[in-house]
Amino acid sequence: MLFDELIGEFDRGLRSITGVARMSRPVPQPDVVADDSEMTVAEQSHAAALMRVNHVGEVCAQALYQAQKLATRSERLKQAFERAAREEEDHLAWTAHRLRELDSRPSLLNPLWYAGSLAIGFVAGRFGDRVSLGFMAETERQVEQHLDGHLDRLPALDHASRAIVMQMRTDEITHARAASDAGGVELPAPVTALMRVAARMMTRTAYYI
Ligand SMILES: [Fe+2]
Ligand SMILES: [Fe+2]
Repeated sequence: MLFDELIGEFDRGLRSITGVARMSRPVPQPDVVADDSEMTVAEQSHAAALMRVNHVGEVCAQALYQAQKLATRSERLKQAFERAAREEEDHLAWTAHRLRELDSRPSLLNPLWYAGSLAIGFVAGRFGDRVSLGFMAETERQVEQHLDGHLDRLPALDHASRAIVMQMRTDEITHARAASDAGGVELPAPVTALMRVAARMMTRTAYYI
C-alpha cells in the first residue's frame, strides 16, 4: 500500500518538475477579449516572469502537499491533502499554459525548489497533524497575499494572466480555511517570519531563472 502510494507520488512529482501537469478544470478565462499583442515586449516578459514565479509556487505546493500526505497516518487528512493537491495541479497546469502563451518557460531550478519543499513538508509532517495543518494554512495565507501583490503588478492589459491568478487566489483561500478548520494550530511568529524569508528568496530568483 505504501509502495503504491509512493509510486503515485513519484509520478506526480515528475509531472510537476517536467511541466506536464494535468488540469481537471479548464484554464480560467477573462471576461474581456484579451490579446497579448496589445502589450509591449517588456510588459509581456514582465508578465511571463511573474507567471514563472507563480508556477514555481505551485511546484512547491505539490511537493508540500505530497510530503504531508505521506507523513500523516490519518486517512481523512490524506484525502483532504489529496483534494487540495489536485487543485494545485490545476494551478500548475494553468500557469504552465500561460507561460507557453507568453513564449516563456518554467524555472530551470524547478527540481531544486521541488526537493527543498519536499524536505520542508516532511519536517512539518514530523511535528504531527495539527502543526502540519497549521503550516499549510499559513503557507496558503502567505500565497494569497503574494497573489494579491501580483494582481497589482501584472500589466493592466494582461487579462489572461489575471483571470488565472484570481481563480488561484480563490482556491488558496479555500485551502487555508480547510486546513485551519481541520485543526491547524497557529505557528509561532519566528516560524512564519522564516517562511516569508524563504518565499521571498524563491520568488526573487524565479523571476529571472
Ligand atoms: Fe496553488
Ligand atoms: Fe493552495
